Amino acid sequence: MEKRENYLYYGDNIDILRNKIDKESVDLCYIDPPFNSKRNYNQIYNNIGKEDKAQTIAFVDTWEWDEAAIKGFNEIQSGSFPVKAADLIISLQKILGNGSLLAYLTSLTIRINEIHKVLKKTGSFFIHCDPAASHYIKLICDSVFCSQGGDFLNEIIWHYKRYTAKSGRFQRLHDVIFWYSKGINYTFNDIREGYGEKSGKKDSHYKQDVEGKWYRWQKRKGKEPYKIYLSEGRRVGDVWEIPIINASARERLGYPTQKPIELLKKIIKFASNENDTVLDCYCGCGTTIDAAEELKRKWIGVDITYNSICLIEYRMMSTYNNDVSYKLFGIPRDIESAKALAERTDSTRKEFEKWAILTFTNNRAMINEKKGSDGGIDGKARIHDKDGWKDVLFSVKSGNYTIDMVRAFRDSINVNNAICGFMIVMEKPTKGMIQISKELGSYKGTYVKEIPKMQFIMVQEIIDKTAEYPFLEFTMEVIKKAEKKEIEEEFEFDDD
Ligand SMILES: C[S@@+](CC[C@H](N)C(=O)[O-])C[C@H]1O[C@@H](n2cnc3c(N)ncnc32)[C@H](O)[C@@H]1O
Repeated sequence: MEKRENYLYYGDNIDILRNKIDKESVDLCYIDPPFNSKRNYNQIYNNIGKEDKAQTIAFVDTWEWDEAAIKGFNEIQSGSFPVKAADLIISLQKILGNGSLLAYLTSLTIRINEIHKVLKKTGSFFIHCDPAASHYIKLICDSVFCSQGGDFLNEIIWHYKRYTAKSGRFQRLHDVIFWYSKGINYTFNDIREGYGEKSGKKDSHYKQDVEGKWYRWQKRKGKEPYKIYLSEGRRVGDVWEIPIINASARERLGYPTQKPIELLKKIIKFASNENDTVLDCYCGCGTTIDAAEELKRKWIGVDITYNSICLIEYRMMSTYNNDVSYKLFGIPRDIESAKALAERTDSTRKEFEKWAILTFTNNRAMINEKKGSDGGIDGKARIHDKDGWKDVLFSVKSGNYTIDMVRAFRDSINVNNAICGFMIVMEKPTKGMIQISKELGSYKGTYVKEIPKMQFIMVQEIIDKTAEYPFLEFTMEVIKKAEKKEIEEEFEFDDD
């Protein structure tokens, strides 16, 4: 069977939408952008002990009226955007002032405008919103889609149940998903849901025909009445009751805003066909692309954080083994692109550190998000030996590094009582540096086999996949045990 062409991009979606995705090439785009919730979402890394519940920032959902926002705002006014969108943003500025909400809406307007361009004329757009900003987002979508021949089709309410916590208002139990089409023609597969046998028969409007099939008459003003058979099923409404991912759900990946695959499958089934191209350019842990793959659609996923890309790779591998093929862009595949990532900006350097640690450990570590030097510790993993939890430390050096930095990391291993530390480096260590690492000796635990307390790992070895992380199998066991115990009470409480 011929494999479908799929693409996964690590980067800012604005660059990918503008430079990598062909205009009018996408059949369905679903996005679930950050909600302007003014908080950071943390991803739980399951292999970490209880006391310092391992978290690392999965993505930052805070917005500022900064240079980027001003640049975006001016761009919208530059004449290259739909007039309605430009007018809308100016009006919103009058109402909201220059603040975080306007920055958020500006960033969305720019991206929605690019999404509109990559959609085919028959394409559909679904945008998932929190009720906090959905009214503004609908205005933006109207200004981009409806002003260019598109249409607003539905406001879908995704209704779910959660445990309750005390609050001074009604419990929030739904999200909003807007559906827009780019043109008059679009795909809508009118898949019916079955009526329960009983419901129809109990309904006195239904009668049986000579063959015993249940039907009722449908009357419309000015039209001939026509028969509707019970077996045709019920039209699907715009309120969808789909459970959120609970603590013990098998699909749960520990990604804070992971959506249920059921939700995405429903959207994709109804609004696209096999072999169509589905895009999610805020793809998080890859729910959309997983659903698209299962439903035999081609897919394009984009995310700006390495954590997401890493999880998606893990998800695709564990769900489809080697039966899924996709091209991955933006992740270093050779030493030149690793260097480029490390050298570009402060934030890409941080992403380089994440990439190095998470690739080396196969996503079994947490990243130190603190800025500045922290004894050279850029990441940490925990191993459960017979006598308790033990730290494993990671330090990443993307360029030149000094013997003092090696000493500082050695001291961190000692001070933190870590069982070992890995210094991931681009340049080979000098003899003096190797000497310092050797002086630390080795660690041998009850379950942990003897390992040097400090080792250098070359970035090249990570790229070549020859760097061996000694706790790979070991931590998988720990995850299984810890998962059950620790995740149980997480998240299900209402947070508003
Ligand atoms: C709410 S989450 C999406 C969750 C997803 N629906 C799922 O089920 O996993 C939003 C995602 O958008 C990503 N993101 C935020 N800004 C982005 C940008 N400019 N380009 C690409 N991805 C971005 C974040 O990293 C985050 O993973």
